[in-house]
Amino acid sequence: MSTELGIDGDTLRSVVGRFATGVTAVCARVDGRPVGMAVNSFTSVSLEPPLVVFCAAKTSATWTEMEASGRFAVSILAAGQGDLCRQLSRKGVDRFEGVALESAPSGSPLIAGCLAWLDCRTVTCHDAGDHILVIGHVDGVGVSEAVDPLVFYASQFVGLAP
Ligand SMILES: Cc1cc2nc3c(=O)[nH]c(=O)nc-3n(C[C@H](O)[C@H](O)[C@H](O)COP(=O)(O)O)c2cc1C
Repeated sequence: MSTELGIDGDTLRSVVGRFATGVTAVCARVDGRPVGMAVNSFTSVSLEPPLVVFCAAKTSATWTEMEASGRFAVSILAAGQGDLCRQLSRKGVDRFEGVALESAPSGSPLIAGCLAWLDCRTVTCHDAGDHILVIGHVDGVGVSEAVDPLVFYASQFVGLAP
């Protein structure tokens, strides 16, 4: 029998952390340089028109910087890109040091070797508690030859069961 728990921040984080997700890198080009972060709140919203969403923490300096560009590219990370994902979440470092990048058609940065990518233009931002829901219109997509996803579960990267 499951146990009902109180809803404090740590408990909620550990409960929603039991929802396994993929992981993406959401990146923009700001004044010619790449800016971005690891994001697992990404999901698809609508096929017609093609819309996607991710949640950016209101405290995120990275999102504040990216927002002005009005565009972002989502790189869906592949198995084996866990260290890169951690690097893209660190503060006070050059997140792109040693990271091979490619360009989406719009010029937004893509992570080389990612599973698939979506080139997006920001259409709406909704206030949602301590996060902002960022909705993007998908202007372009692509896939690579990599097939295995990076999976995030209970604060760790895990493999898919065969
Ligand atoms: C696996 C993983 C998933 C993450 N998902 C999100 C997310 O969905 N939204 C978010 O705002 N930050 C997310 N983060 C945190 C950001 O990558 C990063 O730590 C944050 O942008 C750092 O704060 P800054 O933007 O002020 O530098 C995630 C980090 C990791 C490792």
